[in-house]
Amino acid sequence: SFLARSAVRACAAPSSRLFSSSAARLTKVAVLGAGGGIGQPLSLLLKSDPLVTSLSLYDIRGAPGVAADVSHVDTASEVKGYAADQLDQALEGVKVVVIPAGVPRKPGMTRDDLFNTNASIVRDLAAAVARVAPEAHILVISNPVNSTVPIVAATLEKAGVFDPKRVFGVTTLDVVRAARFVSGLAGVTPSETPITVVGGHSGPTIVPLLSQNQHAKSITGEAYGKVVHRIQFGGDEVVQAKDGAGSATLSMAYAGAKFTNSLLRGLNGEKGVVTPTFVKSPLFADQGIDFFSSNVELGPNGVEKIHELGSLTAEEQKLLEACLPELKKNIEKGKAFVA
Ligand code: NAI
Repeated sequence: SFLARSAVRACAAPSSRLFSSSAARLTKVAVLGAGGGIGQPLSLLLKSDPLVTSLSLYDIRGAPGVAADVSHVDTASEVKGYAADQLDQALEGVKVVVIPAGVPRKPGMTRDDLFNTNASIVRDLAAAVARVAPEAHILVISNPVNSTVPIVAATLEKAGVFDPKRVFGVTTLDVVRAARFVSGLAGVTPSETPITVVGGHSGPTIVPLLSQNQHAKSITGEAYGKVVHRIQFGGDEVVQAKDGAGSATLSMAYAGAKFTNSLLRGLNGEKGVVTPTFVKSPLFADQGIDFFSSNVELGPNGVEKIHELGSLTAEEQKLLEACLPELKKNIEKGKAFVA
C-alpha cells in the first residue's frame, strides 16, 4: 500500500532528507472538516504518514475530540484540534491544507445539488487560508469539486495570492475505483491496472482512459460500457447503500491520504510522482475550460508538469466530448459565485 511504501521510503532514505530540522522538511498539514465522515478517518491516515510532522485538525464541531483520539497513535507527528472560533490558529504555519468540509449527497442527489451549501463553506475557508497561510497547498475534497476548485482559485485570486501550482481538486477516488473495478475484470491486481482518469469529478465529466493500460485495453463491448459507467457513477453505489447516511467516507479518506502523500513526496523532492488531479490547466483553455484533471507531475512547488492526454480511442474521444460542456458549466458556476 502507499502507506507501507512511504514508511519504507522514510526508513531507507538518507537521514539528511527526512530527519533534517530545516523548515522546508517540517510539514504541517491541516484538515478543515476533520470532524466529519471523511475528516475523521483521513486524520487517522495522515497521522500514520511519516511525511506529516504536524497535524492541525479543524471543524465547526468535534475537532478537539478527534485530535485527542488520533494523537494517541504512536507515530512521531504532533496533533492539535481547534474549535469553531479557532480557524486562524489552525492554519498557522501549515504547508498543506486538505478540505473535506461541507455536506455530502443523499440518494437521488447530484454533486451539483450540494453547490448552494458547500460553495460558501469552501469560499470562506479559502479566504482564511489566503489570509493566514497564503503559500499553503490546498487540496479540495468538498463537492462539487468541478466548481469548488474554481471557487478556491477565484477567492485566492481576489486576495492576490493565487498560485495555480498550489490548488488541487482531489479526484483520486475515481482513480482508486477505476484501478479496483478494472482489475477484477482483467483478472489482475489493482496495482497492475493504474488507470488515468481525466476531466472532472462528477458523472459524465469523469473520463477513464482504459486504452492506456495494457490489461484494461482488452476490455471491449458491453463490458467496456459497463465498467466506464461504474467508474463514473461508483459514488452512487455508496450513496444508495448508505441509504441517507451520506456518501463515500472511508474509501475517500484512503484516496485523500494517498493524494496527500503523493504531494508530500513531490514537495520533498522525489522525482516522477505523477497522478491525475483537477488543476488550473492549459489543455482545454482555448475552449474556455481552464480547470481540468489530467496526469500531473508533482514537485517541490506543487504542480511541476501537466501532462497531455495522450492518444485516445474513438470511444474515449466520445466520453471527452460529453465531459467538456458539462465541466465548462460547472467551472463557470463556481467562478460566477465568487464574482
Ligand atoms: P460530513 O457531513 O460527514 O462531514 C462534513 C464536516 O464538515 C462536518 O464535520 C461539518 O461539521 C464540517 N463543516 C461544515 N462546515 C464547515 C466549516 N465552515 N468549516 C469547517 N468544517 C465544516 O460529510 P463527508 O461525508 O465527510 O463529506 C464531506 C464532503 O466531501 C462533501 O461535500 C462530499 O460531497 C465530499 N466528497 C468528495 C469526494 C471526492 O471524491 N472529492 C468523495 C466523497 C465525498
